[in-house]
Amino acid sequence: MSEASTPDVSRHGMWSSRWLFVLAAAGSAVGLGNIWRFPYITGENGGGAFVVVYLLCIAAIGAPVMIAEVMLGRQGRQSPINTMRALAKRSGAPRAWGLVGWLGALTGFFILSYYTVIAGWALFYIFRMGSGMFTGADGALASSAFDAFLADPWMLAAFHTAFVAGTVFIVARGVTAGIERAVRWFMPGLFVLLFVLLGYAMTSGGFGAGLEFMFGMNWSALSVDGVLEALGHAFFTLSVGMGAIMAYGAYVPRSASISSTVLTIAALDTLVALVAGLAIFPVVFANGLEPGQGPGLMFVTVPLAFGQMPLGALFGVVFFVLVTIAAITSSISLLEPALAYAVETHGIRRPRAALALGLVCWVLGLGTVLSFNVWSDIHLVGQMTFFDFMDYATQKVMLPLGGLLIALFAGWVLPKTIVGEQLGLREGVPALAWAVLIKVVAPLGVLAVFAYALLG
Ligand code: PHE
Repeated sequence: MSEASTPDVSRHGMWSSRWLFVLAAAGSAVGLGNIWRFPYITGENGGGAFVVVYLLCIAAIGAPVMIAEVMLGRQGRQSPINTMRALAKRSGAPRAWGLVGWLGALTGFFILSYYTVIAGWALFYIFRMGSGMFTGADGALASSAFDAFLADPWMLAAFHTAFVAGTVFIVARGVTAGIERAVRWFMPGLFVLLFVLLGYAMTSGGFGAGLEFMFGMNWSALSVDGVLEALGHAFFTLSVGMGAIMAYGAYVPRSASISSTVLTIAALDTLVALVAGLAIFPVVFANGLEPGQGPGLMFVTVPLAFGQMPLGALFGVVFFVLVTIAAITSSISLLEPALAYAVETHGIRRPRAALALGLVCWVLGLGTVLSFNVWSDIHLVGQMTFFDFMDYATQKVMLPLGGLLIALFAGWVLPKTIVGEQLGLREGVPALAWAVLIKVVAPLGVLAVFAYALLG
């Protein structure tokens, strides 16, 4: 094999086992997207029908693209930009495929700039829960407390800064020392606390209404934009379409099975989102809150729920600590593609590159900070604030576009022999199913939603 001459490892390091890749990729996938974003966009899009479209997008589009990303990453063993370039060359395709890597790095950057602001909210809520101010609180208090926080740009900026610093610190330490250590213990903890919340939601008196909202088929509530939202969120929540998983794929040992690993990660990610929804909506309905209230949903309902539980302040602190960690294991993966590229191509040392990239994200993030207060009346496009615009551009345009191009490359450009070797597929049903998904279903799915959004 050609691997005999070049060692089949990445210069940035390798996961110590298949299991650690699962943890790291799940760490990337499970984040604010599951606990903060999924419930609030489900609320805005009327529930059930949106959830069905989202699940379909995960299964038919997101998961196949995730398999493709791990495969490309493991074959290339470099940053997504250089991997795409090298594999294009090897496939006799234009070097311009490297642009997919660039688009991804930019997308990661844009997402990170507001991701750190929202993660800063979670960080702040650790202290707020600890203060006991929500003990016995009602919906009005929880809402007004959140609004008062949003109105203060200095507070938002301070916690945004702290979160960026944490991200840079971990990424700077590198793949095994930094990333692996962070994900080893937080996932089990997050699960336990989500189930505590779920347990409370079941007894809150709103559980039936919550279930009905999330799984009742109300198709008339689903707008054209909601369909695009579901697609974009499927990419966002799985961390695919921008190279994060491709970058992590470069550190996967040859012996691991890609498809079963990816299915585990996708299932875990979906489970966390559904449990988060089931924990949050009952609280919404039991307290007469508005499901479509937007980005503040989690920050109003969760304090409310804990405020009514014995030891709620303590549980609340632990919950927001875990959300913050879930966010950090995602934010490091948003930075990794650009970082690995800077290290490989420009020979910049890891810590220095992390600092420089973190700084740019920090500045960009100030736009999001201000869009919730000082700049809330400044609209860039249509009715969109700076934050709305970053969110729209990344979720609804850049991620699906990146995912489309990755599917096309993996399906139509990469030589069949490489695919067969990487995925362990010979002829037969699995090989056929894979080909249909990656060549036809995933690309056409994205194109169809794009077309529907443009024409609808
Ligand atoms: N998947 C992460 C979440 O759900 C966000 C993310 C998107 C991370 C894209 C990496 C790449 O919070």
